Amino acid sequence: MSLATAATQAHRQVRGFLVAGESDMMVDLTLAVLHFVLIFALVGILGAEAALVHEGMDGMQANRVAVLDRGYGAAAGLLLVVGFMRHVLRRERRGLLPQNPVFWAKIAAFALIAALSILPTVKFIAWQRRARKEPGFRPVPADVLSVRRLILAQAAVLAAIPLLAGVMARGYGL
Ligand code: HEM
Repeated sequence: MSLATAATQAHRQVRGFLVAGESDMMVDLTLAVLHFVLIFALVGILGAEAALVHEGMDGMQANRVAVLDRGYGAAAGLLLVVGFMRHVLRRERRGLLPQNPVFWAKIAAFALIAALSILPTVKFIAWQRRARKEPGFRPVPADVLSVRRLILAQAAVLAAIPLLAGVMARGYGL
């Protein structure tokens, strides 16, 4: 092999590596940004739900919270997809996360939030249906109280996730 051919081959290999590395970094950056945008959406919607669900809430507020809750579900689903994509990307690069129990503790906390959100979602749908049919409808105070408690419980678990995420992203827990 001539020196020129060897140099051309080496150039191609380095270029291929750099281009792949750059696109990998762009995917990583895009997923990291999406990860945070979706987290902000979740926190914002949960805050709005907490503000709307209060004693004496009316049918219009019940309708609003039901619409918001669909956004909450969509943001949570997308966050799960984006989070797992980051997980796969990170595993490819550093092989760190799959066996990290802190990652799975974070997923368990996320699953707990999903479980705590089931009853509120069921109530929001029922309230919205009744608010559309019955003018002057107001949710029963006992229901409002239990849904409010579940919203605050979700917020408490959500607040613990950044701690787990920070620990996990630094490779502790291995
Ligand atoms: C509300 C829920 C969530 C919060 C508050 C949260 C927060 C964070 C934070 C603060 C980081 C560290 C900073 C960073 O690397 O960008 C992070 C990283 C990460 N998160 Fe999440 N996250 C959430 C949900 C999820 C879910 C559901 C998954 C997986 C299905 C996930 C997977 C990851 C992965 C794999 C990383 C590490 C990326 C890396 O270091 O390369 N996250 N998260």
